Amino acid sequence: MTLLSAPESATVEHELRGNILVVTIDHAPVNALNSVVRRGLIEAIDAAEVNPSVRAVLIVGAGRNFIAGADIREFGMPAQPPALPDVCNRIEACGKPVVAAIHGAALGGGLEVALASHYRIVVEGAKLGLPEVQLGLLPGAGGTQRATRLVGAESALSLMLSGRHVDAQEALRLGLVDRVGQSADVLNEGLAYAHELIATQAAPRRTRDARGLADQQASATAIAAARANTQKKTRGLLSPMKIIDCVAAAANLSFEEGLRFEREQFLECADSPQRAGLVHAFFAEREVQKSPETRAARSRPIRSVGVVGGGTMGAGIAVALLDAGLSVTMIERDGDALQRGRAHVEKVYDGLIGKGRLTQETKARALQCFHGDTSYDALADADIVIEAVFEDMAVKKAVFTELDRACKQGAVLATNTSYLDIDEIAASISRPHDVLGLHFFSPANIMKLLEVVVPPRVSADVVATAFDLAKKLRKVGVRAGVCDGFIGNRMLAVYRAAADHLMEDGASPYQIDKAVRDFGFPMGPYQVIDLAGGDIGWAARKRRALTRDPHARYVRISDELCERGWFGQKTGRGFYRYDEGARIGKPDPEVELIIATERERAGVAPRVFSDEQIVRRYMAAMINEGANVVHDGIALRPLDVDATLIHGFGFPRYRGGPMHYADTFGLDSVLADIREFAKDDPLFWRASPLLVELVARGANFASLNRAA
Ligand code: 3HC
Ligand code: NAI
Repeated sequence: MTLLSAPESATVEHELRGNILVVTIDHAPVNALNSVVRRGLIEAIDAAEVNPSVRAVLIVGAGRNFIAGADIREFGMPAQPPALPDVCNRIEACGKPVVAAIHGAALGGGLEVALASHYRIVVEGAKLGLPEVQLGLLPGAGGTQRATRLVGAESALSLMLSGRHVDAQEALRLGLVDRVGQSADVLNEGLAYAHELIATQAAPRRTRDARGLADQQASATAIAAARANTQKKTRGLLSPMKIIDCVAAAANLSFEEGLRFEREQFLECADSPQRAGLVHAFFAEREVQKSPETRAARSRPIRSVGVVGGGTMGAGIAVALLDAGLSVTMIERDGDALQRGRAHVEKVYDGLIGKGRLTQETKARALQCFHGDTSYDALADADIVIEAVFEDMAVKKAVFTELDRACKQGAVLATNTSYLDIDEIAASISRPHDVLGLHFFSPANIMKLLEVVVPPRVSADVVATAFDLAKKLRKVGVRAGVCDGFIGNRMLAVYRAAADHLMEDGASPYQIDKAVRDFGFPMGPYQVIDLAGGDIGWAARKRRALTRDPHARYVRISDELCERGWFGQKTGRGFYRYDEGARIGKPDPEVELIIATERERAGVAPRVFSDEQIVRRYMAAMINEGANVVHDGIALRPLDVDATLIHGFGFPRYRGGPMHYADTFGLDSVLADIREFAKDDPLFWRASPLLVELVARGANFASLNRAA
């Protein structure tokens, strides 16, 4: 037996079992293919070739997975030999049959290792895929050439362009694998298959020789269709079109030429800022789950959940909980309100059914776990209660008093407030250590972000329970401190104000929206206001009118629209005009007239802004407030800000979030912009102390992520 190990405990062990060399990759937690594993695989194949007792090789993964892919942590670092394409070529060239026995994840480079093997068996529960596109990459170890030859251009394109995972049965149907094992015991299934191959004297069968591209017409049609559909759908992204180019290379070039072409394209993607942004996002959404509290304490059990309030948010939250298999009890003020609450929940499901995403049966099954009541006593057994009533401190306190009375000891009591002081709510009852914020985003069953708002007195295990719930709901939980707007809405208020200033200074809302979309957001800020309803922000502005700094610049344009009852899509007019039932608006000359009048009233001589100037101001405002949020301890690290903006506010994932983007852009350039803009409005454009400090030290936001 040989063992190859590294300080970080990656090993590739190979051991002769009868006449089969069993090669076990053990690199917790997911058997990523770092340099030790790559070297170990080559050594194992070399050992098999020279040992006359070996009749077949079996590759398996230790732990819960086969191989999750290339080691993402190595990206951007100096390359260490052997390269993964060489490892795959070595496996494929082996003169003895190589079998991959797959359980858990066989993703990216992991699937490429399996494709380079000569035979493949999977067990139920396995997930196979080529998700490189989600990291700004393409399969770069022969995957574009081998998968295409094995399953044909159409299926390979569908896998590589979506990055989706397929299960054992679909993998079999597609021809990615040869068989599905009878049991979950992957080692025994693999050994049995290898024995069978030896008994039938099966020879190495190389995927490079597979005939999936034999029908040239079908391949050409699939490639042309992918080109036509992909450009528009993946606007701005580099790797999807390159994936199609690689498939075309597989169809038109020799295997060796195809591999060379794939390598060039892979390296170009690997060097791109998009790859860096997407990998940052991948790690950020995993890091955010690690807070001081989740490290220190264990979650309380969660089985049944109470939701107080059945409006927009209460209903969406109830659906999110039901979808995660939890039992939900909704409390409303009276019978009528409860009926409306239930109708809201049903409406969310009916919307999904209308879009073909859900069946009536699934809805009926989910609703079996839904109960409604008007008495808080129905929450006596709830493990956690989420309050989503009107945004009013007195109403919220009254609800929490009832929860304090009715809920069992140890129940977690959460509020979905957007802006109110959660510490004040906590202080109003006898168990402040059980109270925290769970800030969902609308629509709550869809949006991935969940801000876990941590007031000073809450127990660590309550916070751990909130993160556990986020995981159950398949949401990205981000820890936030208590302040007006927490992380996301606090930042939104500032960069929206920057957009309003731009609008009053001369840019039209339509130009601002377009510039922001071209940067990569799915919608511009004024489209979002029209979608959410202008009245929500109007109410908040009126609430804050008394506390607003009288010297701060205030743009009245939105108020003017609201005073006319133009709240956006729901009223047919907002910043845009909406034809009956339309979701895309048209620019409105009357709005432009209102803006012109407001400019005159404010004594502003309109200027022309380029799209780039718009984006620079918008981003500088966002980054500066992000820095303040970290500086004030509201976000633990810059990466928490990044995850918040990506999952709650449509920030383009391939740019990694505003703080990662700032590092890419250069913090000194951001600071120089802010100082330039401050010449016109020093009160608004006050550089964050954290930004100033980082620039003075020549450091960046990433250094704070590493230090935390
Ligand atoms: N490299 C390095 N670390 C990885 C990794 C990888 N490929 N995949 C996962 N990890 C790490 C995670 O960062 C996490 O680390 P942490 O515990 O320190 O936070 C740990 O493994 C566990 O990951 P998850 O929390 O995501 O665990 P799950 O069980 O929920 O999911 C998984 C497991 C499905 C494998 C998921 O981690 C995943 O999708 N990983 C990425 C797979 C991928 O994208 N592979 C392609 C890589 S690119 C490539 O192969 C290029 C090639 O073509 C040349
Ligand atoms: P909504 O007005 O649609 O619903 C509120 C519901 O609470 C109503 O159904 C009402 O009958 C019920 N309610 C009021 N008082 C009650 C009481 N004492 N007991 C039981 N039920 C009571 O409001 P929405 O939009 O759902 O907002 C709820 C909370 O969620 C607010 O705190 C809001 O700030 C927050 N929030 C809202 C978001 C949004 O986009 N609408 C996003 C994130 C948070």
